[in-house]
Amino acid sequence: MENFAFHAPTKIYFGKGQIENLENILSKYGKNVLLAYGGGSIKKNGIYNKVYELLKDFNICELEGIEPNPRIGTVRKGIEICKQNNVDVILAVGGGSTIDCTKLIGAGIHYDGDAWDLVKEPSKVDKVVPVVTILTIAATGSEMNQTAVITNPETNEKLSARLKGMAPRASILDPEYTYTLPAIQTAAGAADIMSHVIENYFKSTEGAYLQDKISEGILQTCIKYCPVALQNPTDYEARSNLMWASSLALNGLCGRGKDNEIWSCHPIEHELSAFYDITHGVGLAILTPRWMRYILSEKTVDKFVDYAVNVWNFDKSDDKFELANKAIDATEKFFINCGIPMNLGKLGIDDSLLEKMSNAVIAHRDLKDAYVPLSAEDVLNILKMCL
Ligand code: NZQ
Ligand code: ZN
Repeated sequence: MENFAFHAPTKIYFGKGQIENLENILSKYGKNVLLAYGGGSIKKNGIYNKVYELLKDFNICELEGIEPNPRIGTVRKGIEICKQNNVDVILAVGGGSTIDCTKLIGAGIHYDGDAWDLVKEPSKVDKVVPVVTILTIAATGSEMNQTAVITNPETNEKLSARLKGMAPRASILDPEYTYTLPAIQTAAGAADIMSHVIENYFKSTEGAYLQDKISEGILQTCIKYCPVALQNPTDYEARSNLMWASSLALNGLCGRGKDNEIWSCHPIEHELSAFYDITHGVGLAILTPRWMRYILSEKTVDKFVDYAVNVWNFDKSDDKFELANKAIDATEKFFINCGIPMNLGKLGIDDSLLEKMSNAVIAHRDLKDAYVPLSAEDVLNILKMCL
């Protein structure tokens, strides 16, 4: 295991009715609140009205319409609203897109330049207006980490920015809020959680046994409960396990101590959504089994055997490659059974931009430092496997 520093500063309020703590949580920071949300799901499921009921004594201004794969233009708009209203604290109600957008807004309020500078170099600011979240989808882990992923549609760039101060101060995780999710978002969210874990699991770090055991538990949680939530969207046990899996998969717990290599599927997926605006988790579900097939070799096969035996419960056998392939097949079949379209073609993506995207992946993130080093040509081969 490698040396590491671990700090997860977000206070989690988990369970039914935790929204009742909202007033207490926010009042520490002031009375002027920006309420930020997406395309309106929070109005349909009642959270919007509940927030107003609880925050009678606050001055609320709003940023609505934050898009999935949030855009820099929306961040700029949010910063303006906050400046005009002297906002003390930002309340993000929604998924990773809304939360990520508000993290950048919080950072941009005290920055005089353009917000896109901060996506490229977040350390330009040292003061961030506090963000508090009410999570409505189990997926990204944004509710408990310091990352924001923002898209610039003018340059076809979708980049991650990390800054300690951007971690939410508190997040309310009420699994009942995820009951209204469309099936595809439940499935895509589970695929995203699984990918966060898989990106850290498949590394060559020696001796990080504990991180791998936690990861295997999170993967098995998604494999067990995503189908249950799809079958019965109001199954509290399934929704609560998925929601906590979302936070634990990407709050540092599984990855710290294994930071020697960088991720592979996420940098590739971010180009797919930068160019085609697709759902992040769907892109990852399509990529992950193809990437696995591509990197399976004598050097990596033992890790795949662990994955096959400890995650998919296959019996250990002498034929390591057979076992590895069975696990990859099981991964792909799982996503198919969850209803995820498993080819880029099904999302309307053809081969016309594959080369451009492959080069962009390497320009943004040099994958020679990945678990299995990948060149632009390797990325192109993987993308072709996804067509
Ligand atoms: O906008 P509304 O109307 O709320 O609808 C949303 C949206 O259409 C809907 N939804 C969310 N909760 C709902 C609901 N609909 C009904 N009932 C509910 N309870 O779901 C759709 C997707 O929402 P979004 O916020 O985009 O989903 P997700 O949480 O998957 O976020 C994806 C974004 O996060 C980034 C992704 O790249 C993408 O931009 N990521 C952020 C990370 C981070 N901050 O650490 C890491 C991830 O790897 C990822 O890159
Ligand atoms: Zn992700």
